[in-house]
This record gives sequence, structure tokens and C-alpha cells, in this order.
Amino acid sequence: MPTPATPVSLTRFLIEEQREQRINADLRLLIEVVARACKTIAVAVGKGALGGVLGEAAGAQGASINIQGEAQKKLDVIANDVLLEANAWGGHLAACASEEMEEPFPIPDAYPRGNYLLLFDPLDGSSNIDVNVSVGTIFSVLDCPGDAQCVDTQSFLQPGTAQVAAGYCIYGPSTMLVLTTGHGTHGFTLDREQGSFMLTQREMRIPAETREFAINMSNQRHWEAPMQDYVRDLLAGREGPRGKDFNMRWIASMVADVHRILTRGGIFIYPWDRKLGARPQDNTDPTRAGKLRLMYEANPMSMLVEQAGGASSTGRARILDQVPSHLHERVPVFLGSKAEVEAAVQYHHQFDAGIQPEVRAQA
Ligand code: AHG
Ligand code: MN
Ligand code: MN
Repeated sequence: MPTPATPVSLTRFLIEEQREQRINADLRLLIEVVARACKTIAVAVGKGALGGVLGEAAGAQGASINIQGEAQKKLDVIANDVLLEANAWGGHLAACASEEMEEPFPIPDAYPRGNYLLLFDPLDGSSNIDVNVSVGTIFSVLDCPGDAQCVDTQSFLQPGTAQVAAGYCIYGPSTMLVLTTGHGTHGFTLDREQGSFMLTQREMRIPAETREFAINMSNQRHWEAPMQDYVRDLLAGREGPRGKDFNMRWIASMVADVHRILTRGGIFIYPWDRKLGARPQDNTDPTRAGKLRLMYEANPMSMLVEQAGGASSTGRARILDQVPSHLHERVPVFLGSKAEVEAAVQYHHQFDAGIQPEVRAQA
């Protein structure tokens, strides 16, 4: 459906989705509440140094370290608190899980509990906060399975295909909410004067082909063989087996890199990395480990990308089919333009089949 001439707010969009029976009232409320929390985070991010929100959060002994083993920024903590507080009392959720918290957060007994589970990366790209580069919030919504109370970790361990909604808010030159409830991926821009998210991109589509890739090249020496081969062939450009020149971008905020891909195509890769996979808290199986978190980053972004006609893979299998075994599980990520993701996956499959690089190059 084309974007109508009358501006459509997020509220109107969600009411129309409910009328079409694509979402129920509780999910509509949940998304509205997450969007409101994102507006609060956008204000904090926008104040920068004036709001005293830059820099690292203080812990008991020096820097505060989260469950991921990473030093928390003040805004990681602020964004996490905003999302928890906003979602505690609405009656639509059973529990939340966050990249910043070791255990799930059950809705306090003082409030009614609903049937949804909310997972989030409260502040994605936190290394960019202090240098005034785009950051964001990523979220994923699951149903509470069966008769479970849904306040325990086990309730969250569902594959990405079970998500009923997913989205992110990007705090960039403009603040945007990008959302899917399983019926396309849609972009809303925050009208700062009105305080409303307005529909600006209905049915975002990712072109199948691309000439642009996003990867942290500094990790190259830690990658496995098929990744080395794939990127070598990208860099070889027109003279190489791919027969075309590629451009590279790396913002180091997944939200910003994925937003570019949803806007003009590309492939985003955070592959398995020997350095990260060797860490004791990670799964050292190369088909599973990586930097990015399956449930807070890879699953919601994969749903958004697939709903926009793109593809998303671990390099060997569809990300949304992965069944998590723990809440903070990590996964290699290849997502974006469909034909390019398939090309990268092909390098991995051929490697696993024992086909040598020279033969692959001729294939
Ligand atoms: P977070 O700030 O939530 O920890 O996520 C950072 C992630 C992701 O946003 C980004 O793509 C990637 O880490 C950047 O990794 P490098 O520091 O290796 O570039
Ligand atoms: Mn992140
Ligand atoms: Mn984060």
C-alpha cells in the first residue's frame, strides 16, 4: 500500500494493524511503550555532555562490567533503566531480558503480568556514544509459551522465528523507529516538535544485489578459512572472481550499519572470530560463537531484514532457526542483500564440503 498523503503516526499505524487483526491490543500497547521509552532515551542521548551522560558507569571497584564482560557506559545503564521502568506497570509483559542484565527481570508483583516477553539491547554501539556517532536500541518480542509463568530464563529460549515483533530505534541525525510485526518492515521518523513517530517508509525493501560490505577488517587474522576466501574475493574487485568492485563501510553500531542496509542494500558481517570464540564464556564451536548476541541483536535484526526481502545467516544456517541454549548466546551474523548473503554462505558450504579455494574461485 502506498504511503497516504495524510501523515500517519505510529499510533494510527498500530491501530490500523490491530483492525486488520495483525496485532492485538496488548502488543499494540507494548510497542507504544517501547517507542515512548526510546523517545526518553533519544532525549538523554541528544543532551550529550550537557546531560552528564557520557563516559563509563561507575561500579563497586572502578568500571562497572556487565554480563557480556564489557565495561558499561553511563548511557547503557540509563537506557536499560528507562526500558525497565517504562515496561513494568502496563500489564502487557511477563518479564524482560536485557543484554545488560545477567538474569531476566520479572514484572514486579505490584503490577499485573501479561503474556509477552521483551528482550532488548538498550544501547547498541556504545563505543560510539562519546564520539557523537549514531547509536540505537534494539528490541524483540516473544509470546509466553504454554502455561509457563514466563519469569524464568527457559521461557526466553525460543528461536527467532517465534518473534511476534522486532525493531530498533536509531538515534542519529534524525531519530527513527524501524518496526516489524511480521507484515513488512516499516520506518517512522520522530517529529521532535510534536513528539510523535510518523510513518516515513512503508514496506522498506533491500535490493537483492549489492556492491557494499560492512565488516571490522581489523579482525581478519582471526577469521576462519572461508571468511578469508570470501573477503579476499570481495577485495579483488572487478579483476577477481566476483567480477565487480566493492565499497566498504563500518560504523561499529549495528543499528546504523543495518539501517544503511535497509535503506540502500549491502551485507553486514560479524563472523566467528577465533579471538572471541576462545573466550571461556563463549561457545567455541565455530558454527555458533561470535561477538553479537543472538537474542538481543541477531534475531530482531534478522526478522527486520527478512521482512524487507533480505536474508540472514550464521554463514551456514538461517539465524532465525537457531534454538538458543542460553540467554546471552552469541552467533556469527551475515545479513542484508539476499544474493550477497547467499554468496557468503556458499563459501562456507564449499569449505565444509572440502572444496579447495582454487576450485572455488573457478566455480
Ligand atoms: P553494544 O554496544 O551493544 O555492545 O554492541 C556493539 C556491537 C555492534 O553494535 C557493532 O556492530 C559491533 O559491536 C562493533 O564491534 P567492533 O567494536 O568489533 O567494531
Ligand atoms: Mn549491541
Ligand atoms: Mn548494548
